[in-house]
Amino acid sequence: MSNFNANNLALDAQGLRKTYESGPQQVTVWQDVNLQVAAGESIAIVGASGSGKTTLLNVLGGLDEMDDGQVAIAGQSITDLSEKERTRLRNEQIGFVYQFHHLLPEFSALENVMMPLLLGGMKRKLAAQQAESSLVQMGLSHRLSHKPAELSGGERQRTAIARALVNKPRLVLMDEPTGNLDQQTAQQVENAMLDLANASDTAFVMVTHDVELAKRMKRRYLLTDQTLQLMV
Ligand SMILES: Nc1ncnc2c1ncn2[C@@H]1O[C@H](COP(=O)(O)OP(=O)(O)OP(=O)(O)O)[C@@H](O)[C@H]1O
Ligand SMILES: [Mg+2]
Repeated sequence: MSNFNANNLALDAQGLRKTYESGPQQVTVWQDVNLQVAAGESIAIVGASGSGKTTLLNVLGGLDEMDDGQVAIAGQSITDLSEKERTRLRNEQIGFVYQFHHLLPEFSALENVMMPLLLGGMKRKLAAQQAESSLVQMGLSHRLSHKPAELSGGERQRTAIARALVNKPRLVLMDEPTGNLDQQTAQQVENAMLDLANASDTAFVMVTHDVELAKRMKRRYLLTDQTLQLMV
């Protein structure tokens, strides 16, 4: 626990354990999970289907409970917060890209990306400008007014990435962000993400099956045997 409050860490997770009840039995998803990510660093997590990658991202982002351990985002322990405070921390400091995109169907791409800014109290006009520039970075300048149902799978995924990045969070948690994209588009999206990571203090934790993408990250971890292991 010595460096638990080190504030140059975007993420500091210590001793995490997660179990599920399965009938009378307790099933351990993972335990003894430690993960530190400094500001501006990007790391990859790989692991077999069912190894608990999505569950880990949800716990790191305060969307799911854990059985043991502590998580701090930018020096702030999420474990100690009320639900309301945690929601606020999430909105201000964390960007999520879910495995399935979770866009709001009745809103356009631009409005979806504006949402975190509006929730943070930004004026509509400025929010629209920043959302547009985030979508342009993802190669979607021609799709601003399209609703999710009018976008391709890859365009939806890129919209979700633009939304996660738009308010320059301290930490971005991504669950297979380029899984639905063709190679060329994936490359374009990866470059935009990594440029942002290099140019800012935003840290990235990315679950991916893409070995090439994982190789471009600062460190790689493997979720296996119910624990998170640094790959060398
Ligand atoms: N609410 C739940 N109740 C019980 N078990 C669950 C629940 N959610 C997930 N699990 C189990 O926990 C394990 C980890 O699930 P998780 O979704 O984190 O895996 P994953 O590594 O993201 O897999 P994938 O690569 O297929 O997305 C799985 O065995 C899953 O069945
Ligand atoms: Mg998953």
